[in-house]
Formats: sequence, structure tokens, C-alpha cells
Amino acid sequence: MPNDASTAATPRRLIVAITGATGAVYGVRLLQQLRRHTDVQSHLMVSSAGWQTLHQELGLGKAEVQALADVTHSVREVGATIASGSFATHGMVVAPCSMKTLASIAHGLSDNLIARAADVTLKERRRLVLMVRETPFNLAHLRNMTAVTEMGGIVFPPLPAFYHRPATLDDMIDHTVARVLDMFQLAPPQAPAWAGLAAGREDAAAS
Ligand SMILES: Cc1cc2nc3c(=O)[nH]c(=O)nc-3n(C[C@H](O)[C@H](O)[C@H](O)COP(=O)(O)O)c2cc1C
Repeated sequence: MPNDASTAATPRRLIVAITGATGAVYGVRLLQQLRRHTDVQSHLMVSSAGWQTLHQELGLGKAEVQALADVTHSVREVGATIASGSFATHGMVVAPCSMKTLASIAHGLSDNLIARAADVTLKERRRLVLMVRETPFNLAHLRNMTAVTEMGGIVFPPLPAFYHRPATLDDMIDHTVARVLDMFQLAPPQAPAWAGLAAGREDAAAS
């Protein structure tokens, strides 16, 4: 389990927020991968800028994205279930996470349901993963990432790996999303475990 507070009795719920950083595909792929786990209930929030990037980058509208989640909350709905720590969840992913939402979370602003749900996730000592996306970073971004890390959150920029030799963009996205989902231990690990460079050398020697 991701932390001491979670037990076998904890309902299998994961909160997913999509905010207005480029990389809306990460949030969508996360929801798609979560749908394979029929016993995990996804709770989705999308910021206003998130809807814009979903449309701009993927041509997706509200109905198509909402259909991927079990429950969708408006970011204005600060009285939603996920606004309270008494509503048990396995944690929350912000995919992708804009610098604005990062700042709100880092400073405990709780100015919308995304920031409030993240605040609750941190205060309940549940797992919070922020797929922050910006480049380059300014000092405010770096300080906010440090603050979130100090509070127990996980800063997980969607940086592609190459050691698994991805052939397509989909391979890269799937690998990153699998690594994020594996952090919640909701299912057996999805991302292939690194076998070590020695294994690669043995393969090469054999061929
Ligand atoms: C197409 C597009 C791409 C953007 N990419 C980023 C980005 O990569 N990182 C970022 O922090 N903001 C990015 N922004 C700006 C945010 O959307 C903006 O700061 C917004 O206020 C974030 O609000 P939210 O966190 O509530 O979604 C982008 C905006 C647009 C329209």
C-alpha cells in the first residue's frame, strides 16, 4: 500500500486532475489505463485551461473525457466528496500539472476543488503525484516543487525514458503513465522492471 494510513479496507479510489499544461494526453491515458482496473473508481476534475488543452492537443470534448471516468467533479464544486478527508481515497494524480496549480498546492490555497483535493490528500498523508510540466523552470517553480516535496508530495515530471527502447510516442506515454500508476500499487507493476545493463550485454553476446 502507498502509505501507512491505507488498509485493505480502504475503498480503491483514485483522484485524477487534468490542468492546463501541455500534455493533456497523460491525463487521458491515465484514465484509459485505470479503466482496465474495474475495481478502482476514478474521480476526475478538469480545470478550465485543462479543457482548452484537451481540445487543442487531442480534439477531445467534455463528454468524451468524462466518459473515461467513473465520477466527474466540477472544479467549482468545493463541497464534493473528495473535498473532505473523511472520503477515503488511495491518493491523487495531477496529469499534467501546470505551474499555476503547482503554486496553489504548494501554498495550500485550496482555491478550487483541484487544489482543495490535493490539500486534503497531503493532510491525510495520502499519495499525491504531480506530473508537472514547464520548461525552463524559474525560481518560483523550483521553490514550489521543493515545498510540495517537503509536504510529502511527489513531483513526477513526464520525462520520457529511452532505456526501454520506445518505438513510438505511445510507447513513451504508456511507460510514463505506467510508472505513475505503479506508485499507487493498485495492481501488479505495469512498467517492465529494468533487468540491468548486464542482461542487455548477455542478449547482445548471444545474438
Ligand atoms: C496550449 C497551452 C499550453 C500551455 N502549456 C503550459 C505548460 O506546459 N505549463 C504551464 O505551467 N502552463 C501552461 N499553459 C498555461 C496554463 O494553462 C495557465 O497558466 C492556466 O492558468 C493554468 O490553470 P490551471 O492550473 O487551473 O489549469 C498553457 C496554456 C495553453 C493554452
